[in-house]
Amino acid sequence: MTKDSNNFKAEILQGIPSKMPPKHIFPEKVNRAPKRKDILSAEEKQLAIRNALRYFPKEWHSELASEFAEELRAYGRIYMYRFKPSYTLRARPLEEYPTQSKQAAALMLMIQNNLDPAVAQHPEELITYGGNGAVFQNWIQYVLTLQYLALMTDDQTLHLYSGHPMGLFPSSKNAPRVVVTNGMMIPNYSKPDDWEKFNALGVTQYGQMTAGSFMYIGPQGIVHGTTITILNAFRKILKPQETVGGKIFLTAGLGGMSGAQPKAGNICGCITVCAEVNPKAAEKRHEQGWVDVLIYNIPDLIARVRTAQKNEEVVSVAFIGNVIEVWECFDQENIHVHLGSDQTSLHIPWTGGYYPIGFSFDEAKKMLQKDPENFKKEVQKSLRRHAAVIQKHTNKGTYFFDYGNAFLLEASRAGADIMAENKIDFKYPSYVQDILGPMCFDYGFGPFRWVCASGDTADLDRTDAIALSVMETLSKTAPPEIQLQLQDNITWIKNAKTNKMVVGSKARILYADAEGRMKIAEAFNQAIAENKIGPVVLGRDHHDVSGTDSPYRETSNIYDGSKFTADMAIHNVIGDSFRGATWVSIHNGGGVGWGEVMNGGFGMLIDGSSEASERLKSMLFYDVNNGVARRSWARNKEAIFAIKREMERTPNLKVTLPNLVDDNLLKSLF
Ligand SMILES: NC(=O)c1ccc[n+]([C@@H]2O[C@H](COP(=O)([O-])OP(=O)(O)OC[C@H]3O[C@@H](n4cnc5c(N)ncnc54)[C@H](O)[C@@H]3O)[C@@H](O)[C@H]2O)c1
Repeated sequence: MTKDSNNFKAEILQGIPSKMPPKHIFPEKVNRAPKRKDILSAEEKQLAIRNALRYFPKEWHSELASEFAEELRAYGRIYMYRFKPSYTLRARPLEEYPTQSKQAAALMLMIQNNLDPAVAQHPEELITYGGNGAVFQNWIQYVLTLQYLALMTDDQTLHLYSGHPMGLFPSSKNAPRVVVTNGMMIPNYSKPDDWEKFNALGVTQYGQMTAGSFMYIGPQGIVHGTTITILNAFRKILKPQETVGGKIFLTAGLGGMSGAQPKAGNICGCITVCAEVNPKAAEKRHEQGWVDVLIYNIPDLIARVRTAQKNEEVVSVAFIGNVIEVWECFDQENIHVHLGSDQTSLHIPWTGGYYPIGFSFDEAKKMLQKDPENFKKEVQKSLRRHAAVIQKHTNKGTYFFDYGNAFLLEASRAGADIMAENKIDFKYPSYVQDILGPMCFDYGFGPFRWVCASGDTADLDRTDAIALSVMETLSKTAPPEIQLQLQDNITWIKNAKTNKMVVGSKARILYADAEGRMKIAEAFNQAIAENKIGPVVLGRDHHDVSGTDSPYRETSNIYDGSKFTADMAIHNVIGDSFRGATWVSIHNGGGVGWGEVMNGGFGMLIDGSSEASERLKSMLFYDVNNGVARRSWARNKEAIFAIKREMERTPNLKVTLPNLVDDNLLKSLF
């Protein structure tokens, strides 16, 4: 055993150090989180310091109080940088963790993966992705949690309140080892500024979707989801003999998630034009090979796009500038946009998520700092102009969809002409309403993912082969309704290795339904039992059939009025917890914003045992079918088909089915 691994174990086991560690030195070139809003009153700032100091012995209080006050002044939050561990944060093979419980070791692996500087967006501030997706609020919560995980047995459960480890409570070996809640608020206290305030006080955090549930696996997940979306969007608009070649997909954003768009466009075979106002973001994506060409002015863009169209090239072009410029010039030049979307960060429109037209990137940033009210007005003006030019294109036949970034919502709030005639719906569908909902989620297809806990690439290759073989077998007898979904994912998994998207842990994602997920997981468990591969952690994105109630995204294709309820997410997390999940999590706030969504997830370690086999079948079955049942009750015909099929396969599943009402009967009533 090396000295480093001994230090690593000793440091985890010690928890809060007995001697005050030295002041933190920030690594060079690390991407730091933006300064957060200074929102607390003087009295509240004292409360934030009092809250932070409760983790530490009294003798340290005077030194730490001034240090934490300085952090609050400088960064708007108290991160307790000094307590960041000295060892490297990365997913290690399971057996390297000091632990009494293999399941707890799996959690340590996943937590460290989410904080690995190669994976995390702002690793110093414990932010994994999305600008605010936190694993913990501060480093002492991390240190204490890892110590609890190292000490816990399979008869205990650790309860995490927005990163704070409340403690280990006696439970049983069938209970989850960890229960996570993030950002759970009394509903009236769930406005964006409530997050700023209560996060600054140190009592809540924004867990995004997979950050606070330790299930983020790098950009692979978003590339896969975006590929499936673009592929199916083209299927909706192309005539039977037409191909994707030479067709244009116009969108915006080359940031954390949006950067996946050009890569996915290339996998689908189209011409992607992606505008990005921040030159650094675009250049970074170009250096990483995620986008092929950088273009800095409109005439060059037009010329390049025309060439690409003529040659039916598969190419992705980043335009450095505001996306509205591109929409407007393509309209004037009569360049037909086949697919249009947007992935600027409109879940945070007033704090730099969306940049207004008419200003350089630097000018807009200055305005945001000096005159946020004017910035807001300019954003609203731009959104109205943005919506207006999109309308010109859709009049000419462009298929525009909202890509889950709250574009339609914020454009409507800005007064853009974006509402449908009934004044309730938007003019354009969200990608879930038109594409992922009916084509995938309603059939139970969603983002199943796994991590090879050995950290061995050969294990990942073997699991890819196992998953491929299971899906090919399923496709032989699957009904026509789900053939395409299976085929798309068979193609994906065949090419998964060559797409080279593994960062940090050895992880993979694909879309499968309940049957597919259970059969793949069972085949993994069998391979583990036969010593062909090491243990595997199963999980999923929260962007799924079940688990997430998000009226403008995951559940936007629910039309019985229940899309503003969050019962499904809560049932998922409770239901999964007693069916064998190793950990469960429930979060307020994901990609669409704090207060706009409830999302839940799970993690499950499988180790080749017969208990793991029972657990995976019971939990995965419920995890997916809870959402299919809810979608079926909402009268979604694809989900009614899927749940009836599941009931035929599973005699002890009895789901309440809806009776459909004749439209004419209702029309005559009011
Ligand atoms: N549909 C999905 O599956 C899905 C998944 C993840 C994220 N999202 C949503 O997509 C959005 C983007 O996420 P992200 O992680 O990439 O955020 P990000 O902030 O890292 O990237 C957004 C990018 O848009 C650029 N931008 C802003 N205004 C612009 C404008 N007017 N013209 C051109 N570029 C502009 C910004 O400079 C930034 O680089 C978020 O709202 C997120 O919630 C959707």
